[in-house]
Amino acid sequence: MITKAPVWDKEALKRLAQRELGDFKLVIVSNRQPYIHELIEGKLSYAVPSGGLTTALDPLMQECGGTWIAYGGGKGDWAAVDEKNRIMVPPDDPAYTLRLVWLTEEQEQGYYYGFSNEGLWPLCHNAYTEPVFDTKAWETYKDVNQDFANQVLDEIDGRPAAVFTQDYHLALLPRLIRNAEPDIITGQFWHIPWPSPEIFRICPWQEELLDGMLGNDLMGFHIGDHCNNFLSTVARCLDAQTDQEYNLVKYRGDSTLVRPFPISVDFEQINQDAQSRYVTEEMDRLTDELDLGGMIMGLGIDRIDYTKGIPHRLRAFGRFLGKYPEYLGKVVFIQAGVMSRTGIDAYQLLSDQIDQLLDDINSRFGYAGWKPIIYLPNDLPNVTLMALRRMARFCVVSSLHDGMNLVAKEYAASRFDEDGVLILSPFTGSALELTDALIVNPYATEQFADAICDAVEMPLESRRARMINMRSIVRENNIYKWAARMLVDLMQGSRRSRRPMAGR
Ligand code: G6P
Repeated sequence: MITKAPVWDKEALKRLAQRELGDFKLVIVSNRQPYIHELIEGKLSYAVPSGGLTTALDPLMQECGGTWIAYGGGKGDWAAVDEKNRIMVPPDDPAYTLRLVWLTEEQEQGYYYGFSNEGLWPLCHNAYTEPVFDTKAWETYKDVNQDFANQVLDEIDGRPAAVFTQDYHLALLPRLIRNAEPDIITGQFWHIPWPSPEIFRICPWQEELLDGMLGNDLMGFHIGDHCNNFLSTVARCLDAQTDQEYNLVKYRGDSTLVRPFPISVDFEQINQDAQSRYVTEEMDRLTDELDLGGMIMGLGIDRIDYTKGIPHRLRAFGRFLGKYPEYLGKVVFIQAGVMSRTGIDAYQLLSDQIDQLLDDINSRFGYAGWKPIIYLPNDLPNVTLMALRRMARFCVVSSLHDGMNLVAKEYAASRFDEDGVLILSPFTGSALELTDALIVNPYATEQFADAICDAVEMPLESRRARMINMRSIVRENNIYKWAARMLVDLMQGSRRSRRPMAGR
């Protein structure tokens, strides 16, 4: 008899966190904060930033408690925090402490825009944007990592603690923590892909970065390929012992466990939010405002980033209209987006490229009263994004390279009506799980256009069968399961692999 494993939920995670953490304080460190405060005409408000990192970790912190340390990048942050730069969040139902770190403009330029997003981001994504490695930016990156480490140590103040560092902005932090307080348990999750050693070796400071990351007891990536790339990179670059069978690195007398943890979303919450009457009202409003009555709608929701393959999908949609003219006036594509990292040239270029493609396709195929592509490059409220997901006959995720891509999982979680087709790039982590999507190479415009046609023409029973399977995968592999697995490996793995710890 096959028995199904129980689905992880908030309560189960809370119990596990209490058991595993015991007296240990949980500290999450990331660049981006989960709630950004704005000060508009003297009134404080807050916004939730886009991106997989905050989407995934906020539910975890709400259940586990502890402190989240992040860069205070919002214009109203200074007015929201107390004298120790702390504030309880979520604002509507406080559950954990957010502690903010301030950066000067120069620091933000070198550490965030410079080394993190002009260097490491393109280095880790195969999207053919050349990384820029600037010595001054690297120096700033090192200083800012030290600043974050100081704040973490101050927050812990000698108590037993587990520090869970996020992403590529803070690769040096784990080693700094380990050097200062060897008893602190350290783990890191790398939210983006890890490249092959041939690609990584173009980074002039590869040894320092790897040394920083190997200050972790546990190093998590989304998928096995990224773990293997990391282990091979370490073997090539450092005088370290790597064990590919047990996913272990032994270096400087310590060991780091390297494991895949496919990140996910809060399925039940999204599933429930999607059913709200506000979403239904928003669907009616959008149908009127955008004149969508009787149209089949396709959807893309992204941060405007060159890794997301947005030009590729627009070209494919244009090709679909050219190849299947019977759908002119019947199928509309909505691209919703959030402008991102606009201080970087590559992002400006992308934005111009998107505008150009929109002009070309809309002027070529549009006619009075009908526009094939509607572009909404604004930070849309959650209720609008949810309404768009529910209205979309098909959702396109065409990343050129992506660690996971949670937009794909959010689409499945929102479709409680069990309808809708996901068109998904094989170069995303989620393609390994959501095999009932139409998997299509974003560079192959002809096949991509045909996949759009397949999505438009797919009969209801097939749409439903595929969506039911995708939803059951996201329901089971939800964010609580991700967090539980990481927490167990972090706490138990570090207890096993490290020397007996004084005072515990
Ligand atoms: C990706 C990164 C996150 C980042 C997010 C948004 O998901 O992995 O670390 O927060 O993009 O980008 P931003 O630069 O706005 O924080």
